[in-house]
Amino acid sequence: MTDTATITDPAAAAVEPTAYHVREGGDGTVLDVQDFSLWYGNTQALFDVNLKIQKGMVTSLIGPSGCGKSTLLRSFNRMNDLVDDLHISGRIATDGFDIYGPGVDVIALRKRMGMVFQKPNPFAMSIYDNVAYPLRVDGVTKKSVLDEAVERALQSAALWDEAKDRLQQSALGLSGGQQQRLCIARAVASDPEVLLMDEPCSALDPIATAKIENLISALAGEYSIVIVTHSMSQAARVSHNTGFMYLGRIVEYGDTDTVFTNPRNARTDDYVTGRFG
Ligand SMILES: Nc1ncnc2c1ncn2[C@@H]1O[C@H](COP(=O)(O)OP(=O)(O)O)[C@@H](O)[C@H]1O
Ligand SMILES: [Mg+2]
Repeated sequence: MTDTATITDPAAAAVEPTAYHVREGGDGTVLDVQDFSLWYGNTQALFDVNLKIQKGMVTSLIGPSGCGKSTLLRSFNRMNDLVDDLHISGRIATDGFDIYGPGVDVIALRKRMGMVFQKPNPFAMSIYDNVAYPLRVDGVTKKSVLDEAVERALQSAALWDEAKDRLQQSALGLSGGQQQRLCIARAVASDPEVLLMDEPCSALDPIATAKIENLISALAGEYSIVIVTHSMSQAARVSHNTGFMYLGRIVEYGDTDTVFTNPRNARTDDYVTGRFG
């Protein structure tokens, strides 16, 4: 069965309304998704998503393959704009403005919403130049400013100690886990508000995965983090809130402990207990 067939499955119509019991942060909402739907051509991939992502917290998106997790994540920084024949309805607001509204500076938006992908994607340049890249794009040329920003970002990404003596060496010589932390450093160097991570550990071994998970916990608070993961144990370990998606809908969104141990929705229960997936 193809992913598209899953989405158009008549069972989608039978999905119950969202169970919603989110843990709210002291700082409020950073992304307010309101009745958001998305179509790739004629195929609807997201259905009436309503979600308030809490500022400074880690939010996981879980659910079976093809249920729309990456699509929703890419909607937050308008990466989906690159797809032909895409249309949307509804609203995603951050700081009171609709990110799909008229006059939005998409480049600036993507800086606010830093993205980390499944496969580490360092540029074929030195470690230093990778991290300095977003600043240079912004026109920063002063060496002292770049040096300081590079160190700060590498410190934030828990890579400084391993990288400080090889800053001018190629980033491609780093291990996979180091490359992924470098990509996080590069995202952080743009001074984003939100970090979007799409299965950031799926190409990594358990030790590298544990380092990224520790890093996510350390970065929470300063940043709001939304992580797509197929690992339920990872979602349980790193996130405050979890959204369970199924067939393009949010079926349950709530504090992670409750989603995993006492979900309100029977379908969530089936998924987190491994009865389907
Ligand atoms: N660029 C695209 N063009 C057309 N359909 C897409 C595109 N990306 C994803 N889809 C479809 O949208 C649905 C959701 O996919 P996706 O968001 O990647 O799910 P997940 O990340 O949960 O596995 C799937 O049916 C998939 O085939
Ligand atoms: Mg995906």
